[in-house]
Amino acid sequence: MTLYDVFNRPLENLRISVTDRCNFRCSYCMPAHKFRQGYSFIRSADLLTFEEITRLARGFSRLGIHKVRLTGGEPLVRPGIEQLVGMLSQVEGIREIAMTTNGFLLPQKARLLRNQGLMRLNISLDSLDEAVFQRMNGGRAKVTDVLNGISAAEQAGFSPLKINTVVQRGVNDHTLVDLALYFRERGHIVRFIEFMDTGTLNGWKYDHVLLTDELIQRIGRVVPLRPLPAHYGGEVVKRYGYADGSGEIGFITSVSNPFCGGCNRLRLSAEGKIYTCLFARQGVDLRRLLRSGASDEVIAECIKETWQHRKDRYSEERSNGQRTEKVEMYHMGG
Ligand code: GTP
Ligand code: 5AD
Ligand code: SF4
Ligand code: SF4
Repeated sequence: MTLYDVFNRPLENLRISVTDRCNFRCSYCMPAHKFRQGYSFIRSADLLTFEEITRLARGFSRLGIHKVRLTGGEPLVRPGIEQLVGMLSQVEGIREIAMTTNGFLLPQKARLLRNQGLMRLNISLDSLDEAVFQRMNGGRAKVTDVLNGISAAEQAGFSPLKINTVVQRGVNDHTLVDLALYFRERGHIVRFIEFMDTGTLNGWKYDHVLLTDELIQRIGRVVPLRPLPAHYGGEVVKRYGYADGSGEIGFITSVSNPFCGGCNRLRLSAEGKIYTCLFARQGVDLRRLLRSGASDEVIAECIKETWQHRKDRYSEERSNGQRTEKVEMYHMGG
């Protein structure tokens, strides 16, 4: 079965956040000087257990979800995360399990994750320039830490990797051609993400965004690019190939060219709320249902209702003015 929302968008893709904690303090996500004000991390008793997440995943699978992605915060700081991967890979109907991580803990975790059935890894890295990278991650990691994580992922058999790079005008934009060329050599797919107004802490202004068209021109002057067709509907990335066939690169254009029209994703937060948009003000609490003894049918009904009433298209409406009240991205899941 497939559920459709008000704009006829199918529910196809579930992003499961396993923690709101992180070992980095990226300025565009959890800026160190701001994020403590009024925010305390989710208490461990309030986190969904792996059994609860797996039960929900079974329910989501019956509602048409075949693809899950684990996120955070930073998913690898949740102890024993590989066990959850193992449990999810036993769920009938889930054909793909992926993860988005900052890579820092991959030297310890990559092989365990692979052995438990993780299929794909997206790793974030914003610059190969040490000072620029540290400025962006709050001084919590060196470039080599992430490169070691990337090597560990390669050795564990993850290939190709996707490398996520947030682009901030005047912060890392002068280092991006280098980054593209470095990963082209190594056969990984870099995706440049326009800086977005997620949450309320990152001081986003339109002027801080380097629009994708300009970045494509800058890269294209060094290595010519040509557009590639989308792999599937609802893909967030605009794909390009290097014209000489030496690899692929992508652009996530949430600001300059929003993709709400095909948005098929639901987010499940670490405390068990579902969110129908990355920029949502509030979620729907499934943990309360789970812990009050609700049946699978009652939980499925709640998910159906939520999706069928969904009208979100925040990025397409952003130009009417930013929303002031939003849940933080590390809290709902990236
Ligand atoms: P695959 O296509 O399966 O590889 O995954 P993905 O690109 O959806 O996953 P990933 O977590 O790597 O996403 C990259 C980034 O795209 C996210 O971290 C967000 O910054 C952005 N993004 C992902 N989903 C959405 C979305 O629904 N809306 C918006 N506006 N941005 C999103
Ligand atoms: N704008 C764009 N991308 C963001 N990410 C986190 N916050 C933002 C933002 N404000 C990206 C990170 C990582 C993923 C989890 O989300 O770079 O790749
Ligand atoms: Fe942590 Fe990812 Fe947020 Fe950076 S973007 S602070 S790595 S959750
Ligand atoms: Fe989907 Fe909301 Fe992102 Fe639009 S802004 S693509 S509706 S998550």
